[in-house]
Amino acid sequence: MIGPTPCDTGTEGVEGGVGVTALLVAAARAIETHRPDSLAADAYAEHFVRAAPASADWPVRPPQVPDGDADPLWGRFARYFGLRTRVLDDFLLRSVHTGGARQVVLLGAGLDSRAFRLDWPAGCMVFEVDRAGVLSFKRRVLDGLSAVPATTRVPVAADLREDWAAALTDAGFDPAAPSVWLAEGLLFYLPPAAETSLIGTVDRLTTAGSALAYEVKLDEDLLAHRDSPLYTATAEQIGIDLLTLFDLAPRPDSVGHLTGRGWSASVHVPYEFTQRHGRGPLPEPNDALGGNRWVFARKRRS
Ligand SMILES: C[S@@+](CC[C@H](N)C(=O)[O-])C[C@H]1O[C@@H](n2cnc3c(N)ncnc32)[C@H](O)[C@@H]1O
Repeated sequence: MIGPTPCDTGTEGVEGGVGVTALLVAAARAIETHRPDSLAADAYAEHFVRAAPASADWPVRPPQVPDGDADPLWGRFARYFGLRTRVLDDFLLRSVHTGGARQVVLLGAGLDSRAFRLDWPAGCMVFEVDRAGVLSFKRRVLDGLSAVPATTRVPVAADLREDWAAALTDAGFDPAAPSVWLAEGLLFYLPPAAETSLIGTVDRLTTAGSALAYEVKLDEDLLAHRDSPLYTATAEQIGIDLLTLFDLAPRPDSVGHLTGRGWSASVHVPYEFTQRHGRGPLPEPNDALGGNRWVFARKRRS
């Protein structure tokens, strides 16, 4: 165990602490699904939101957001999650269809339904790593829908602040075969040492040609926008104070760690993808999203 974090509330499931953020992203994906200009469709998302008492009355359709895109939470922030979902869907699908990986590891998977909704090639395995309480809520909802995954899906209960490698390999992950990894909306909740350890574990469990995408926030940005419309609306409208959930300690240089171990990495500002897709959030003053970066890394072939 690396140590307690600000997100330690004793809550293991989706009802509070960091687990409730999985519902926030699910609600954003539900809204995105029903936009006329949707970037990603997730038919499961609204069922997760409706099933949890913490989120049962949150919006799941655009008409339930009277201010539309002007709402800092269910407008702009939800658009951000919609864009992120699409960009990372594309990354994973490229990695399996073109890159040849057949193992997909979703770290901090939350209520990610990619195992059900994406077009996976034959022989894929999708490992969903999250805490036991989140995974059991997810299983209950999916069982209630009689949902059938589009590929082999393997939930792995683990705390990513601890040594989780054995849980993954015991669940059937093969470190000798190529893989693609995702840490979407995860690393800023972990202590820096846990992030460094996680990156080291990914490196240790991957072959050349494997790929990793993850999201970070720049250090100097973490507290700079504490009074931004986005953080304020999230706290006021649904009671989630993201700044108390983030680990505010200085972040490690994970790109440096990866490149030092033979990976190539490119760092992107999400707004690049807003331009590419023609929709999504744009910069604004006092911008809580301004320090977000999406990193795409590939382990070089030897
Ligand atoms: C913002 S949600 C993102 C979920 C998902 N990746 C997505 O984008 O929809 C953060 C997720 O990270 C998980 N998480 C946070 N800290 C964790 C830890 N120490 N071990 C395992 N999972 C963790 C939470 O339970 C939650 O499901």
